[in-house]
Amino acid sequence: MSSNIKLIGKGITRIIKSKVMLSPLAGVTDKVFRKIVRKWAPDSLLFTEMINASSLKKGFGTMKIKNLELEKGPVGVQIFDNRLFAVSEAAKQAEAYGAYVIDINMGCPVKKIAKKGGGSALIKDRKLAVELVKRVVEAVQIPVTVKTRLGWDNKEENIDDFLLRIQNAGAAMITLHGRTRKQGFSGNADWEMIGKLKEKLEIPLIANGDIKNPSDAINCLKQTNADGVMIGRAILGSPWKLGEIDYAIKEIKGFEEPNIEQKLFLIIEHLEELIKEKGDHGLLIARKHISWTCKSFPGATKLRNNLVRSIDHKEVKELINSTIKTLKKEQIILS
Ligand SMILES: Cc1cc2nc3c(=O)[nH]c(=O)nc-3n(C[C@H](O)[C@H](O)[C@H](O)COP(=O)(O)O)c2cc1C
Repeated sequence: MSSNIKLIGKGITRIIKSKVMLSPLAGVTDKVFRKIVRKWAPDSLLFTEMINASSLKKGFGTMKIKNLELEKGPVGVQIFDNRLFAVSEAAKQAEAYGAYVIDINMGCPVKKIAKKGGGSALIKDRKLAVELVKRVVEAVQIPVTVKTRLGWDNKEENIDDFLLRIQNAGAAMITLHGRTRKQGFSGNADWEMIGKLKEKLEIPLIANGDIKNPSDAINCLKQTNADGVMIGRAILGSPWKLGEIDYAIKEIKGFEEPNIEQKLFLIIEHLEELIKEKGDHGLLIARKHISWTCKSFPGATKLRNNLVRSIDHKEVKELINSTIKTLKKEQIILS
């Protein structure tokens, strides 16, 4: 089974050498987080957080996508908006900054976005969705992809018609989260339905939803026959997870999950990178990552509570270093 996914753009074809991709996650998949995920997943396509087309135009969003070509692997930029000109201009800008592909968000259920006609609302406005894909394909050389859901309200909305129209408009790949907009994150992702839709498409289809570990990923690939899988929530606090899944899909043995000490050092590294990138504000962003990663070892809850209350990044480092010493003394970490 080939591990490659071929994405055909108007002028440039991209080959992705991994079947596991990182979901766009607002507030999470920033440059620093991608750098950390990349350590274990050199071949995977990682997506930026969704970026509003106007924020690029006005300049403040550009910080989020600058220097993508300097990252050590392929990065896709996800754009959300429903205005044709704004999205195609934003796509051009992202391409100039080194985006490997452009993804258009047609799945976000957040009311503020859907009410304005963006994200999942595009499932209802198929004419506009098609036009959006066409315009962006026209605007850039790189492949244009779409991430969407199984429907707006329910699964009887001829979602196959929607996906086929997106394909015919020139999309190079579709990622399908196996829930409707109405479901939000409730219930289970419907991999069976993803499998049925896969049969109808010619472009690569990526299955998304509820893939938490290597065996989920392998089962999902088998059940859906999808070309790849995309991982969202399972990466929170476990940035090695993408690499772990990539190893399993490629049947490479020897993946080692970081031990407690390595996880604690990872928190320090993440924090330092965030401070370098964003100054003192970096500590605020680090807090949620700390609370996701700092778990499942003796004393983790107490340490987590202390870490997330700390208002000084130096104190965070001291707390972690002294915890490592204690865990070593008590032989909980064996060096
Ligand atoms: C915190 C968070 C932020 C998200 N941000 C985005 C986003 O910016 N763009 C997008 O298309 N989906 C976004 N999603 C949806 C995920 O990309 C993914 O489709 C969903 O979580 C299902 O996959 P999972 O079960 O692996 O988490 C977000 C989800 C979460 C939990």
